[in-house]
Amino acid sequence: MGKLVIANWKMHPRTEREAVRLARAEDVPGVVVAAPFPYLAGIGKALRQASLGAQDVSPTDARTGPMTGEVSGAMLSSLGVRYVLIGHSERRNPLSGKGESDSVIAAKVCAALDARITPVLCVGEPWNIRQRGFASSRAYVKKQVVAGFAKCGGRNLRCLVAYEPIWAISTLARRRIATPEEAAAMGSYLLAQLEALSGTRKGAVLYGGSVSVANAAAFLMRPEFSGVLVGGASLDAPGLRRIARAAADSKSR
Ligand code: PGA
Repeated sequence: MGKLVIANWKMHPRTEREAVRLARAEDVPGVVVAAPFPYLAGIGKALRQASLGAQDVSPTDARTGPMTGEVSGAMLSSLGVRYVLIGHSERRNPLSGKGESDSVIAAKVCAALDARITPVLCVGEPWNIRQRGFASSRAYVKKQVVAGFAKCGGRNLRCLVAYEPIWAISTLARRRIATPEEAAAMGSYLLAQLEALSGTRKGAVLYGGSVSVANAAAFLMRPEFSGVLVGGASLDAPGLRRIARAAADSKSR
């Protein structure tokens, strides 16, 4: 089986018409289009080969009580959403005004699983932790993984983990990226953590952080990674299709 490419469009594009056009251009096997909520229905109808993804899910559902403005797993599932990003650093960050806690993130993982949607738990250390060395970075992401899966029991096997070092996200212009070796060292550590949590070797880790047409193959080649999470570069359809071709050529573990 080839590896997975998740296109994290973040808050783009500006209109539904552009979103559907972009989705059609990225509609190839092995791709997950993780689009903003308002576009999911339209894109879901347009996709034939790629899968539909969301960028967030409510930790609660309608049975828990009223919750203005939230979008439940059941709603996403009814639109054909198969994957959902959870705990992205841009949502964990208190400066973003969201500041999602580990406990909210753990509840979101359960909510997605309950709706039969694959959670993609995003973890990664900030630069000030990285500067203290690899051991500090490992301890930081381990805490995120353990906390993120704290409420879902053995069901973490049905989840993906995306390692996205915060210092390497959205840096294409600044050129500070993690090398495939640096990323793979953490990938291997995370796989060991997942194995320890579940007692099997089935965990899957993706890499994200300034993945581009130029560097994607180097990350996809690493046996530690089952795919890549692509932000900025996913808005360029021809480039994303090239990344998807590299992913299709790389074998999963
Ligand atoms: P980037 O974003 O590829 O633009 O660095 C990745 C992400 O935030 O998921």
